[in-house]
Amino acid sequence: MRVSVSQIREMKQRGEKVAMLTAYDYATAKIVDEAGIPLVLVGDSLGMVVLGYESTIPVTMEEMLHHIKAVVRGTRQAMVIGDMPFMTYHVSVEDALRNAARFIQEGRAQAIKLEGGVTAADKVKRIVECGIPVMGHIGLTPQSVHQLGGFKVQGKTPEAAIRMLQDARALEQAGAFAVVLEMVPAPLAALITRKISIPTIGIGSGAGCDGQVQVISDLLGLFTDFVPKHARQYAKLADIIRSAVAEYHGEVKSGDFPTKEQSFSMDESILAELDK
Ligand code: KIV
Repeated sequence: MRVSVSQIREMKQRGEKVAMLTAYDYATAKIVDEAGIPLVLVGDSLGMVVLGYESTIPVTMEEMLHHIKAVVRGTRQAMVIGDMPFMTYHVSVEDALRNAARFIQEGRAQAIKLEGGVTAADKVKRIVECGIPVMGHIGLTPQSVHQLGGFKVQGKTPEAAIRMLQDARALEQAGAFAVVLEMVPAPLAALITRKISIPTIGIGSGAGCDGQVQVISDLLGLFTDFVPKHARQYAKLADIIRSAVAEYHGEVKSGDFPTKEQSFSMDESILAELDK
């Protein structure tokens, strides 16, 4: 059985921290799942760290579905959460419902995530009423990067801090099972965490959240365009890959690869016949 919404809620009640990671492909998802990570997000960060877009805005439903399916195939125990792309849940509740349902029905994800608080609450409510678990996302919402004027810390003014608490409460009331707090000052994130009953999952929002989420490409040192301040590199995969590729390149050129070990033999008499 996969991790359930009620198990995640119970973790907050027990004071047990929740670790969440992104994954975008079968092989990585399998490793993350085997490591026991309970929440695997197929984030629309896919657009930047896998597909090479400048932001998450160009990501489409079809691109997300393609990767959600791979991640679901790679996982057994984790709850797989599909991230709704820009403009797939903004226009109407009907649109939001139809697209959320595609993630669950076609993608086989167990939950969806969408950005926004008070303004998204009506969609969250309807999606939850239809039996689809929803994770909210407030603070820095990358799909609104042009409105926010960049990837900046949010909630620093009194008005913005009040709005953020209202957003968190609106998501809780709408039935979201958890909420991502991205780039929120640590003391504000801790306060929101105390004020709402659903788990807060922080990214760049300090240790006072109920859980943490990271983009796996940042954590593994695989994405090298920039390293966010909130990320810790637990490995430097780009360096490992670079030196492995250089070694392979050199060995192909020198003739050291392949050897007999990577080759296949056949009956010599057949060759002798051919060579006559
Ligand atoms: O798209 C994503 O990976 C996300 C996480 C950073 C929370 O939304």
